[in-house]
Amino acid sequence: MTAATRIEELRRLIRHHEERYFVLDDPEIADAEFDALVRELATLEAEHPELVTPDSPTQRVGGRPVEGFATTRHLEPMLSLDNAYSEDEVRAFDERVRKGLGRGSDAVDYVAELKIDGLSIALTYEDGRLVRGVTRGDGVTGEDVSANVRTIRSIPLRLREAPPGRVEIRGEIYFPRAAFERLNEEREEAGEPLFANPRNAAAGTMRNLDPRLVASRGLRAFVYQLVLPARDEAATGTSEEPLAHSHGEVLDLLRRWGCPVEPHVERCAGIEEVLAFTREWAERRHGLGFETDGVVIKVDRLEERRALGATAKFPRWSLAFKFPAQQATTRLLRIDLQVGRTGAVTPVAVLEPVFLAGSTISLATLHNEQEIARRDIRPGDMVLIEKGGDVIPKVVKPIESARPAGDDAPKPFAMPSACPVCGSALVKEADEVVWRCENASCPARLRRSLEHFASRRAMNIDGLGESLVKVLIDRGLVKDFADLYALEADALSELVVTPEEPRSERARPRKLGKVGLNLAEQIDRSRQAELWRLVFALGIRHVGERGAQALAARFGELDRLMAASVDELQAVSDIGPVVAASVRNWFDEAANRRLVERLRAAGLHFGVPVAGSDVASGPGPLDGQIFVLTGTLESMTRDEAQAAIERLGGRVTSSVSRKTSYVVVGADAGSKLEKARSLDVPVLDEHAFRALIGD
Ligand code: IVH
Repeated sequence: MTAATRIEELRRLIRHHEERYFVLDDPEIADAEFDALVRELATLEAEHPELVTPDSPTQRVGGRPVEGFATTRHLEPMLSLDNAYSEDEVRAFDERVRKGLGRGSDAVDYVAELKIDGLSIALTYEDGRLVRGVTRGDGVTGEDVSANVRTIRSIPLRLREAPPGRVEIRGEIYFPRAAFERLNEEREEAGEPLFANPRNAAAGTMRNLDPRLVASRGLRAFVYQLVLPARDEAATGTSEEPLAHSHGEVLDLLRRWGCPVEPHVERCAGIEEVLAFTREWAERRHGLGFETDGVVIKVDRLEERRALGATAKFPRWSLAFKFPAQQATTRLLRIDLQVGRTGAVTPVAVLEPVFLAGSTISLATLHNEQEIARRDIRPGDMVLIEKGGDVIPKVVKPIESARPAGDDAPKPFAMPSACPVCGSALVKEADEVVWRCENASCPARLRRSLEHFASRRAMNIDGLGESLVKVLIDRGLVKDFADLYALEADALSELVVTPEEPRSERARPRKLGKVGLNLAEQIDRSRQAELWRLVFALGIRHVGERGAQALAARFGELDRLMAASVDELQAVSDIGPVVAASVRNWFDEAANRRLVERLRAAGLHFGVPVAGSDVASGPGPLDGQIFVLTGTLESMTRDEAQAAIERLGGRVTSSVSRKTSYVVVGADAGSKLEKARSLDVPVLDEHAFRALIGD
């Protein structure tokens, strides 16, 4: 099989599996198998750069940040929707529709869709290829955010069986709940301001100039509208059969083309069925993986839509029904402090229990000291709480009118100066809002670190949850991660614990028995966990699950990761300067290195060079050599040069140091050449470089 054929086949397979995973939420193969396909394609494309096309699945993330966003005009204005907040308003809409269509009391067919809480986007496809993605903007013109849109993996770069010519597909870009929560957790840890909700986060992300950052955030999209360029029937003398007669058919078409259509759409005969749908989803929506703030009601037949037309702002054939807000008031009893695994000390609101949207709430987040002061929230206040996209509700504001005057008024919250658990002084860096306990052996930090280490997304040690972690630490059996691996199965089964529920039957102290034996087995099994799990489990600040995966895929072995310079770390896609510096600092700490050595001695899997990845798999002729490329080469692009070096086992970094083996110099080389000379680093011109790589 020729490379060109295999490349086409791989692209077809990858597109198929991207659709299964990101569009249909129903993958057919394991992530690792999918990654192997992508790696094989990337390798083949690196060897045959002339075969790379913009709609190849490898071309989602462009190399560098864009300068800014250009403004473009929409094919047709992007209108917004009229809102309704009650069933009466929905019925009044139905009456207007029936009147407008002269239908009397005949029921109209509607389609009810969930209203996705994100930002609207117009995607242009030409001959089935994605050429542009534009934000709504003012409705007439929007910003061209194509580079960012391309990184969203539920948006196809190429449509299946689309019509020739130009079509515009409209929809909504949104943050899946889990990705949003992860993002805010990371921001909280880093002391960065939090996004108020997934919609703001999605909008903020899409406005970022660096597509690599956008790619790392895990945005998704749903589409719900198709706009075709107006056909000039007078000029062509033909009137083609329309692609669809109803909205339902439009959605079918979009699905067939491989576009993500929200699956809970329902066709409703008459407005009462629509109302049943809104009632059902007012409850069910909390179980969705994304946030929805209402239901969009649309007349189904396109002909009827045309007859109804639009006002200057809204179509007359559609209405957004908004779900009632999820808010309640209750008393803030006190503010507790929680110490996280990185030492971040966060305030938690302890509330008088109140029932809200399906559950009783007694704890809520307050984010940080600054937020408490800004909103003037005081222990003892009546407060407004809100259940948003997150599982944990938040305190929105105090009810100031309910606050007693004068001396009886509650006092503002004051952050203590010492860690509530170990008593060591709390520290806050100048540009951060988060206070931290810097005592690495603070029992609270150790507890949270161990919980994280064992968690499902990290080492996945089933059975080692919060309560057992507490027991192991309180009894002095575990002082760091490595101690876990020294625990003996017998000792664990003999361990006597008292279950936490005080009144339950099982509250008597008892031996762990079989639970202990199972735990020992789980701990043993975790020795074989994939490298990325270990990298994530170590709890290095700013290294989330995705970051850990990117690092593990790139370096293949913990030792290579440990040895990587900040430059080398930063050269990994998805890894920015803050993460790179944090990784370097972590491995530079003597205590952390000792921990890593103890984990090695305990027999943990530290990775193997990944075959077929962009890291060479065995010692190649350039093994261990570090290259810096500067200036423009004539016979190859920088990416090709880098690929050639990596294929032979070498590595490419961005700045020259004493560790650099060679600086490869093309035309118009600048300061890097000077630096190489001043440090006596060998310099290769293009000819010499090509000789070295055997070209
Ligand atoms: S249809 C003519 N369907 O809500 C307007 N919009 O408040 C066509 N939205 O600007 C929009 N989910 O950004 C439609 N299923 C859905 C939607 C939806 C979210 C957004 C859209 C629109 C805004 C109006």
